[in-house]
Amino acid sequence: MSDASPFRRLMVTGGAGFIGSCFVRDLLARRDGTRITVLDKLTYAGNRANLAPAEADPEQAARLRFVQGDIADPVAVGSLVAEADAVVNFAAESHVDRSILDPAAFLRTGVEGVYVLLEACRHEQERATRGERARPPRMVQVSTDEVYGSVDEGESRETDPIAPRSPYAAAKAAGELLARSYFVTYGLDVVVSRGSNTYGPYHHPEKLIPLFVTNAIDDLPLPLYGDGLQRRDWLFVGDHAAAVAFLLERGRAGEVYNVPGGNERANRDVVALLLERLGKPWSLVRSVPDRPGHDRRYAMDGTRLAGLGWRARTTFEAGLAATVDWFVANQDWWRPIKSGEWDAYYERQYAARLAAGLAVAPAAPSGEPAAPSGTT
Ligand code: NAD
Ligand code: TYD
Repeated sequence: MSDASPFRRLMVTGGAGFIGSCFVRDLLARRDGTRITVLDKLTYAGNRANLAPAEADPEQAARLRFVQGDIADPVAVGSLVAEADAVVNFAAESHVDRSILDPAAFLRTGVEGVYVLLEACRHEQERATRGERARPPRMVQVSTDEVYGSVDEGESRETDPIAPRSPYAAAKAAGELLARSYFVTYGLDVVVSRGSNTYGPYHHPEKLIPLFVTNAIDDLPLPLYGDGLQRRDWLFVGDHAAAVAFLLERGRAGEVYNVPGGNERANRDVVALLLERLGKPWSLVRSVPDRPGHDRRYAMDGTRLAGLGWRARTTFEAGLAATVDWFVANQDWWRPIKSGEWDAYYERQYAARLAAGLAVAPAAPSGEPAAPSGTT
């Protein structure tokens, strides 16, 4: 944080996950004195190893505290929010496919957990009013472009209605609506970010890019849903974390900000690019039965955030090359994750799909449709 920033003591929830840990690593690496307490439940997606680079550096480690706990637990949350100038909430169940298999945890963390954080902030705001702390805490609620639902054409603006279509997206929408209601009703200092599809190092291998990279390294099939022409706007994780840090300092209270990556691609084109980087053949790709309710496209307008002076910097080509190379070089990180609980998940999510899968014709350069070329 800048010298003038009032946010010197941060509580970062979900800070052992993919984006939260990048936020923590990058902020501590600025060496500006900011102190961070991570509260993380360490679900299957949370990983202490994601914080290892900061913990290995004595100066950074001295400013980092890790607490294992649940954001839906008011006791764990209350005392930590009492010590924080700001709360940055990354904690969530984050995988759409798992939300389809089992939505309960998504609601517990995405709705109840956010409510508990907001209540703790409200309590601290009341303490500030009584002069028991210098200022009320600020809270950044990290949300997603998926709250807009599928966008056939054009780009979603922050003023557009939201229309989430998966249990994951609906839980995220509920969380950010609660956060905004606390701004309107109680005047709580809340900012909401809506990031687009994020990728990069330390990405859990259940998601498209790391799943396909790690499977391809092992010459395993790559399960592409449906026709593979769904479109996503890809945001490099360092850019996403930087945008959240920027909004923590510069976002207007009560406001929502889109965080687009500016890299819209069809899934087939993403796969073609990562295979090219790995030097692996397209014949690994299987067309498998689609995800139910699969959103066809996400795209957001970034004018509001650009108006504050921020835009993503990383091109998809550069970010993807760095990501692929990281997964090749860091097999000690992802191989343990693809074992244990992973096997049961993979079986449940993919076994029947892969059994029904077809080989896919090579991707056309522009993402034009390409018919399946036959059974395998
Ligand atoms: P992730 O699944 O990698 O990490 C989530 C972290 O939250 C894990 O460390 C997990 O242990 C922790 N957690 C889960 N439930 C918890 C609870 N009840 N209490 C405390 N900790 C808990 O997710 P991610 O990809 O890093 O996403 C972080 C945030 O960004 C999420 O809120 C997600 O909705 C949002 N987001 C993600 C993307 C993306 O493409 N990954 C895009 C936009 C927004
Ligand atoms: P994912 O990484 O799960 O992110 P999200 O669902 O939040 O966009 O998926 C990105 C895209 O890749 C999405 O269109 C679904 C698709 N996909 C596959 O085709 N196969 C897979 O095995 C996975 C995990 C995703």
